Order: sequence, then structure tokens, then C-alpha cells
Amino acid sequence: MQTHGVATCVGIAWAVLLAVPIVSCSPASLSDNSTRTPAKGIDVGKLARFLSPTAKILFPGSTDFTAYTARWSNLEPPTPSIVVVAGIEKDVSKTVKFAFDYNIPILAYNGHHGTHTTLGKMDYGIEIYLPQLNTITIAKDMTSVTVGGGVNVKTLIDTLWEAGKQAVTGWCECVSFLGPALGGGHGWLQGHHGLISDQFLSMNVVLANGDLKTIDAHSDMWWGMRGAGHNLGIVTSVTTKIYDIVSPNWAIETIIFSGDKLKAVYEAANKDLLQNGTQSSDIHNWSYWQNDASLDPNNPVIIMFVVQEGVDVVDPRYTTPFHDIGPLMITPQSGTYKDLAAWTGIAKESPPCQDFGLNNPRFPIYLNEYNTTAMQKAWDIYAPAISGENNPYSLSIFMWEDYATAGVRARGVKSTAFAFRQDLILAAPLIIYAPNKARDLAVEQLGNKLRELVQEGTGRGSELHAYVNYAYGTEGPEAWYGYEPWRQNRLRTLKKKYDPKGKFSFYGPIA
Ligand SMILES: Cc1cc2nc3c(=O)[nH]c(=O)nc-3n(C[C@H](O)[C@H](O)[C@H](O)COP(=O)(O)OP(=O)(O)OC[C@H]3O[C@@H](n4cnc5c(N)ncnc54)[C@H](O)[C@@H]3O)c2cc1C
Ligand SMILES: *[C@@H]1O[C@H](CO)[C@@H](O)[C@H](O)[C@H]1NC(C)=O
Ligand SMILES: *[C@@H]1O[C@H](CO)[C@@H](O)[C@H](O)[C@H]1NC(C)=O
Ligand SMILES: *[C@@H]1O[C@H](CO)[C@@H](O)[C@H](O)[C@H]1NC(C)=O
Ligand SMILES: *[C@@H]1O[C@H](CO)[C@@H](O)[C@H](O)[C@H]1NC(C)=O
Repeated sequence: MQTHGVATCVGIAWAVLLAVPIVSCSPASLSDNSTRTPAKGIDVGKLARFLSPTAKILFPGSTDFTAYTARWSNLEPPTPSIVVVAGIEKDVSKTVKFAFDYNIPILAYNGHHGTHTTLGKMDYGIEIYLPQLNTITIAKDMTSVTVGGGVNVKTLIDTLWEAGKQAVTGWCECVSFLGPALGGGHGWLQGHHGLISDQFLSMNVVLANGDLKTIDAHSDMWWGMRGAGHNLGIVTSVTTKIYDIVSPNWAIETIIFSGDKLKAVYEAANKDLLQNGTQSSDIHNWSYWQNDASLDPNNPVIIMFVVQEGVDVVDPRYTTPFHDIGPLMITPQSGTYKDLAAWTGIAKESPPCQDFGLNNPRFPIYLNEYNTTAMQKAWDIYAPAISGENNPYSLSIFMWEDYATAGVRARGVKSTAFAFRQDLILAAPLIIYAPNKARDLAVEQLGNKLRELVQEGTGRGSELHAYVNYAYGTEGPEAWYGYEPWRQNRLRTLKKKYDPKGKFSFYGPIA
């Protein structure tokens, strides 16, 4: 843990960073403090002979090993014994086959932002590092792009932009393209086109036994790869739809409120949502509850981002209801699609994209509306839990993501393994703290308590809808993949057929 780096950098709230450059905030090189099981029993010489000249095998102690095993969250991180850096797609296939033959655990590493606590069960074996599979090839007809399995979101957005194109991708510049997509995948353009994985046309995937297969809608795996994909194989490349850039310009208003305005703020945000989610596809309301001592030294504040596509100023129709509530601060900005990540504090340079060595568990829940009674109850627990002098959780963020959803809901609910198409809001407390075993249980209890309070406002009883990619790790297959027995049966059938030995079961395992 680089306490020095933490103290000087993350103390600044995400959102308030907005356009402030934070070059000085890159963490000093993190050291590898994990206890690792030696690579005993892994015949590295033999494995090396199967790999291409561009592949690398790395051992603990080297700078690259430390860099390529770093995690965004250090709560129960995986601790592989060696790293195989794939140079070409076949390297993945050869490594998986080798591991299958010798019964060695494997785990694909991509943008390294996965947080499931079950990743910690990977305490021996081979990490397969994908980011060198970074090719991006736009098809001649300009309707699709083939993306290497390790391509990062920002690289893809920038490359397509140069060609006058866009794809549905995640919004955070530092995660991989595929990590989010395999669990469904949310992004700013989903209101028009659907989830990230809804755009897929075909993919190359390495199965548990090492076979490299090209699959598309004709494969029985296709349904499962789009929502529960982490469970079935390692995707080494994917071909996905791209679109013309229709509206390059976007605008945002960041409107900050004190906590006593909670009910008024979310009653306003609810207005159109209640109409069965008939809100227009060009508007997104996001909010974070987090500390900003300059605005309120004793409590978190509510930071509302109203984001609109195709305009230079957010339509007052959407912002006036919030202005009327009496915010502490209003900051309008305008630019292009490419500025969104920086505005909402998740650009490559922003704190959430740095590896500070912190623990970052989230406790996600999908909702259909803001229940302000339930939210107030959650606030009343959350605010004192993360505020006040020397609070160990002071960097925490309660996220309320209300993306446009028309394109997601327009597809059949059964069309893919992503189960929660009809839900409208993705909420999650993210409790940020420095690694400290003595706090882990209290944090888990706090996160679960906050989520339960929100759940009580849904009218769903104990049926929790949790986005698998934000999950803490203990929610279970029904909360991640849906409660309908046919879904669970279909997933189990696929798992049995394609990964009977559970090689791909460290992240969101299907029972
Ligand atoms: C700052 C931040 C921003 C985020 N933004 C978004 C967003 O905009 N939209 C969204 O939907 N989610 C978002 N998420 C959640 C995100 O989907 C998950 O954190 C996801 O696991 C990140 O993928 P990764 O490649 O970075 O992580 P990794 O830890 O490298 O991967 C997570 C797991 O995915 C599997 N995996 C990764 N790549 C492959 C592959 N090619 N083939 C097979 N399995 C693979 C592995 O099991 C791995 O353990 C965000 C998370 C954070 C922390
Ligand atoms: C990791 O090791 C470095 C160097 O030995 C040390 O400064 C740091 O405090 C350690 N961090 C943790 C979390 O143990
Ligand atoms: C965001 O809030 C505004 C103002 O209340 C509302 O008109 C709009 O419908 C909301 N948009 C979404 C996507 O919820
Ligand atoms: C919502 O959808 C239901 C079922 O489709 C319909 O009966 C109802 O009138 C809709 N309500 C609104 C406000 O659009
Ligand atoms: C809102 O949440 C409360 C619990 O906090 C619950 O009693 C109430 O029924 C919920 N309201 C609606 C409309 O679901």
C-alpha cells in the first residue's frame, strides 16, 4: 500500500476533479506484497516451447510481473504464481491447453478492474495477460470492427473516432472492452443500440480444453457469452457493430446538493422514469454521494450529472427542475463524446483509473425507480459511516447510474444471458478503504446493509438484481444471472458442456 500516494491523491473527490489535471497523482510503482505460491509443479520450460516468439513468461520479483499482476482493488485479489503475456491469440489457446492437461488453475487478466472477492481463490497457477492482443481492424464496409481480446476502452473509442465511427463501449477509459461486455456491458450509447454485447457479430473464444473456436449466433454458446461470458471461455477477439457518429457534441451539467435535498432531487429525477422508462435516449442522470469537505465538512454531498447528447448546453427542461431545488454549485461544460469520461471522473488520468492499492468493493442493485423513502434510510446510515475526521472510508462513493435504456429494453428479455433488461437504474455503494483485514467484515456488513435498505424500497422482496460486473462476489448466480429456472438451467447446461471442470469459475461462477 503506498500510503504516501494515497494521501496526496485520492483525497480529492472524483467528481470535483473534473477538468483538473492530476498528473502528479500517478501512484509510485506499487510493490508486489502478495504472498505467492511458488510455480512448483508448473513445467515452465515445456510451456515456453508452445508459445509464440512474442509471448512472455514472467516471474515474481520482476518489474513487469508486478505491473501485470497489479489490481484496481486489493480486497481478496488473485495471486497467480506466473504470468503468461499472450503475444497472439494462439498463445492463449496453448496456455489453456497446457493448464488443462496438467490441472493448473488459470485466470485471464485484462483491464484488471474485476473485483469479485472470489478472485482471491485463485492463489496458485497461471495468469493469462491479454492486453497485448490489441489489434483493432475496421471492416471495409465500415459496419463492424474486429477487436483484440485485450483492447482497452479508450484505445477503441479513439481509433473509431478517427474513422468517424462509434461503438457501444463502457464509459471508463481504463477498463478493457471485453471485461464489461461479457457481463452485458453498459455504456453511454446503450439508449440507442442496446448493451455492449448486443452488438457482437462473432468471436474467437478459447474453451477450457484449449480449443480455439470461432462462434456466432449459430452456436449454443452465443446466448451465454453475452451476459455470463466470463464463465465459458477466454475471448481472444470479437467482431462488433459500429455506427456513424451522429452527435459528436455532448454537454453536461454537474449540479451539487447538500444531503438535506435528497428527497427533492430524486423526486425530480423520477419524473419521466415512472412512465415505464419512456425517457429519451439522449439524456442520462447520474449521481454520486461522496465527501467534499469544501462544500460540506460533516456530510457527503449529492453530485448530480445531467448528461445530454447532441447539444452544447443541456436542455433547461432537464436542469431547471434541479436548479429549482437550490443546489450548492452548478458547473456546465460542453465538448464531445470523448470528454464524458473526464467529466464524470473516470478518464485514464482520473483517480479511479489509478492503482492506489486500495480495497474497492461494490454492492450493486438494479432498480426501476428512485424510492426516496428507502434512499433516505440508506443515506442516514451511509453519511455518518463515511464522513467525519479521520474516517477510514472517506473516499467512498454511492453511485446511482441512470443511463438511457430504450435500446436495452427494446430487445427480448430472453435474448441473452443478461437478465435485467427491464431495470432502469444501477445503484451501488462503493466502499473505498486502505487494506486492513480487521475492517473487511465491517465493510461487507455496511455494504450489505445499505443495499438491503435500497432493496426494501423495490417491492421485490428478497429478489436482488445485481450487475455481475459490479458484484461483491457473494450474491450468487440467481442475483447475477436471473431467477428464472430456465435461465439457471440453460447456464448450467452450457457450463457442463464447455467448462465441466470449472476452469473459468473465479469470477461470477454459474453454480
Ligand atoms: C472505474 C470502473 C469503471 C467501470 N466502467 C464500466 C462501464 O462503463 N460499463 C460496465 O458495464 N462496467 C464497468 N465497470 C465494471 C466492469 O465491467 C468490471 O469491473 C470488469 O470486470 C472490468 O473488466 P477488466 O477487463 O477491467 O477487469 P479484469 O479484472 O481484467 O477482468 C475481470 C474478469 O473478466 C474476465 N475476463 C476479462 N477479459 C476476458 C476475456 N477477454 N475473455 C474472457 N474472460 C475475460 C476474467 O474472468 C476476469 O477475472 C467499471 C468498473 C470500474 C472499476
Ligand atoms: C508493501 O511493501 C512496501 C515495500 O516493502 C512497503 O513500503 C509497503 O508498506 C507494503 N504495503 C503493504 C500494504 O504491506
Ligand atoms: C433526469 O432528470 C430530469 C429532470 O427531472 C428528467 O426530466 C429526466 O427525465 C431525467 N432523465 C432520466 C433519464 O431519468
Ligand atoms: C406502462 O406500460 C403498461 C404495460 O405496457 C401500460 O399498461 C401502461 O399504460 C404504461 N404506463 C405509462 C405511464 O406509460
Ligand atoms: C419505498 O420504500 C419503503 C421502504 O423504505 C417501502 O415501505 C415503500 O413501500 C416503498 N415505496 C414504493 C412505492 O415501493
